[in-house]
Amino acid sequence: MNKNMPSRVLVVCLGNICRSPMAEGVLRHHIQSMGLRIKVDSAGTSGHHQNEPPDLRAQQEMRRRGMDISSQRSRPLVRKDFDRFDVILVMDHSNLEDALAIAGPRTEWRNKVGLFLEDSEVPDPYYGGASGFAQVHDLVDSAAWRWVEQWKEHQDQP
Ligand code: 4NP
Repeated sequence: MNKNMPSRVLVVCLGNICRSPMAEGVLRHHIQSMGLRIKVDSAGTSGHHQNEPPDLRAQQEMRRRGMDISSQRSRPLVRKDFDRFDVILVMDHSNLEDALAIAGPRTEWRNKVGLFLEDSEVPDPYYGGASGFAQVHDLVDSAAWRWVEQWKEHQDQP
């Protein structure tokens, strides 16, 4: 994956109501605090929850950390996203497989996709309790810092 600072980043999970809305909120927060100009959006590989706001447990966990994600709405990942976004970060291996199936054979598009946690997965908290959402927050928070720092380091490179 290209390390240069992207203009647009998309984060992706299955339903776009738990993990990727939290990752979107956290990334946007860190990008702002570092003074960078990167647009962030999120999507789900399934359109099952289209137009729904984030899961209340995700909203609550984020509110507890000072971030309001209540205005986000779920939307499905579409082919056009591979053109529009520079980097597409997914939460688990199943999202990776599904996203690559939507991308199709173009190497340029496939190379935009990677795991949000570089060598592991952000576990799906949907069927668990509140502690799963706190764990998702902690995982995406530390990974988001790493991404933003890496992009900032490469911001002036051609
Ligand atoms: P997410 O969590 O992929 O982190 O948004 C899920 C939300 C809904 C479902 C599964 C995972 N579901 O099966 O409806």
